[in-house]
Amino acid sequence: MISLKTDYLKGFVAPDELRGISSAVRKAHDDLHQRKGKGAEFTGWVDLPSRISSDLIKELTDLGSGLAQENDCIVSIGIGGSYLGIRATLEFLGNPRLPVYYAGHNISGEYLHELLKVLETKRFTVVVISKSGTTTEPALAFRVIKGLMEKKYNPAELKQRIICVTDEKKGALRALANKNGFRSYVIPDDVGGRYSILTPVGLVPLALAGVDIQGFVDGAKKAQAEYAKCDVESNPCYRYAALRNLLYAKGKKIEVMSSFYPNVFYVAEWWKQLFGESEGKDHKGIFPASLIMSTDLHSMGQLIQDGERTLFETFMSIDKPRQDVRIPSDKEDADGFNYVAGKTLDFVNKKAYEATAAAHFEGGVPNMTISLSQADAAHLGQLYYFFEKACAISGYMLGVNPFDQPGVEAYKKKMFALLKEG
Ligand code: PA5
Repeated sequence: MISLKTDYLKGFVAPDELRGISSAVRKAHDDLHQRKGKGAEFTGWVDLPSRISSDLIKELTDLGSGLAQENDCIVSIGIGGSYLGIRATLEFLGNPRLPVYYAGHNISGEYLHELLKVLETKRFTVVVISKSGTTTEPALAFRVIKGLMEKKYNPAELKQRIICVTDEKKGALRALANKNGFRSYVIPDDVGGRYSILTPVGLVPLALAGVDIQGFVDGAKKAQAEYAKCDVESNPCYRYAALRNLLYAKGKKIEVMSSFYPNVFYVAEWWKQLFGESEGKDHKGIFPASLIMSTDLHSMGQLIQDGERTLFETFMSIDKPRQDVRIPSDKEDADGFNYVAGKTLDFVNKKAYEATAAAHFEGGVPNMTISLSQADAAHLGQLYYFFEKACAISGYMLGVNPFDQPGVEAYKKKMFALLKEG
């Protein structure tokens, strides 16, 4: 279950304000579901969970079990929407069957050099993911890693160890996969990068790493059904979208996702891409930031509590973390903490969260909390869909196209010009 708690918005957003924008929410909902809003050609993710075939899930699960015997690790090559959701899922769930290394998410020679040193001694399969099939970072990383593989493996084995996830027809990666007969999976045309975690972009590497992709998809399917109703009172996904718009209109220009659970770090990175790239256009958009607590309370905590009052906060909480540690009693009690002996660390962590949410509210930072009852694949699948839909509704309410990213071309044009100058 996913719940949204909004007690600490009191005094910042009045209940009648939420009701007051329900017609804007209705319009966003109709535009999305009737495929008549901006960027409608990229809304295939809306009913994607219910369209994922059980044959694909079985095929990928079997592929993953087969490859587990012949590999020490997996290399996932991709950037942005072809990277963050995979890493977010694996870091959130922990303990993959095979370790996963990442490449193609930066252009650092030092990073790739270190990775190559690790891969020299390992048996590995590469999943190279690029919807356009032409993105600089993954193309260069794949070129280098394929070079290493050509030295390590004969052509037949090399062919078995490369899996491409890309467009059905277009792009250099599709051409390469077809020419060499590499196993390949298709990213649907109507699903953009940052909304693609439930396509083969996510499902292929996650299945190879041993994630329960059936549970993951089932969670997203549940979300698809649960968040279909256009009602800000009973639909937490729409309530979240509407509330962040109301806060933005009151000058709260920055949303900080804060979590007391370090395994949420990359989920927040995924969330930042989703909302930042979807809403940040036409000189509008909430700036998404993230913090991991209590670590960051000892650094950024001061600014949140006392800095410029342009922030609101969204806490990501987990009711029942997978593991916990009990605090022992200590004979000397030198640190004076025997009063929590017998309690668990999560008990203390949750008290720290409760205290922080209250203190930030009192300090002028309105905040909400999204809680997952459990940290498993099903809940994460549900959460991804929750955010995707909230982002689309929120973007439509803001008046932007939440499915394009024209702004990312500006630096690329300049970079290619500089590269060609030599
Ligand atoms: O959301 C997006 O569209 C981007 O972040 C892309 O996912 C990213 O640029 C990678 O693109 P591609 O998959 O085409 O290599």
